[in-house]
Amino acid sequence: MEPDRLLVVEGLDAGYGFIQALNQVSLRVDARSITALVGPNGAGKTTLLKAIMGYVAPTAGRISFCGQPITSSPTHRTVGCGLGYVPQGRIVFPQMTVQENLAIGLYLRRHDRALRSRAFDLIYAVFPRLYERRWQRAGTLSGGEQQMLAIGRALMTEPKLVLVDEPSLGLAPNLVDLVFETVAKLRESGTAFLLVEQNAVAALEIADYAYVLDLGRIHLEGPAGELMQKDEVRQVYLGL
Ligand SMILES: Nc1ncnc2c1ncn2[C@@H]1O[C@H](COP(=O)(O)OP(=O)(O)O)[C@@H](O)[C@H]1O
Ligand SMILES: [Mg+2]
Repeated sequence: MEPDRLLVVEGLDAGYGFIQALNQVSLRVDARSITALVGPNGAGKTTLLKAIMGYVAPTAGRISFCGQPITSSPTHRTVGCGLGYVPQGRIVFPQMTVQENLAIGLYLRRHDRALRSRAFDLIYAVFPRLYERRWQRAGTLSGGEQQMLAIGRALMTEPKLVLVDEPSLGLAPNLVDLVFETVAKLRESGTAFLLVEQNAVAALEIADYAYVLDLGRIHLEGPAGELMQKDEVRQVYLGL
């Protein structure tokens, strides 16, 4: 196996009953890279992340992660192999503290004490605001801080790859920048990201490689800098 190929999706079909949300989707995420998946509302971006996580069963195609086939494998095994997921909508437990929310991210490896202290050290180093607020209830955090917390929780098990669904949705512009800067910083520490975004400009700016998904099909792909220069991408998908 070529070690750089962390996630490989080949010819994936998936959907809901009669709705085919993904049509022959192929995509690849390399280790230590940021790969952006952009496209309009309803394109199938969330469905693709759910299919990778095993929450939606593909009707055709293959998914492999860390060189192992994971198509339709139980999600807990996928997570054990080092895959993190940050669902759309900044989902945190509002009545629990920041620290308790992060601890939930450790649940599958809760008996690993060394990991526990390493993970808290890393997250609090990357997100000093979360450290300052570690005893505060998550529900009292700002939207941007809740998004940081949701990302932090997914990082607790030291995943090699994190799937992030629309982290900038509904955030004020300065917080959008902060979220993207944080993702870029985490990549430096060796984590790869598959970043789903409707805010395509911001995503392409930090991504190494990007895919444009529209109506369930990959329409375009390439190095993010090159895609950003294409007239079609600029007009149709970036609104520039
Ligand atoms: N739970 C569901 N049941 C039925 N149809 C769904 C469901 N979730 C998404 N869809 C449909 O699948 C398509 C892709 O949706 P989605 O993956 O959420 O797109 P995106 O994340 O790009 O906005 C859309 O046509 C959407 O209406
Ligand atoms: Mg979505």
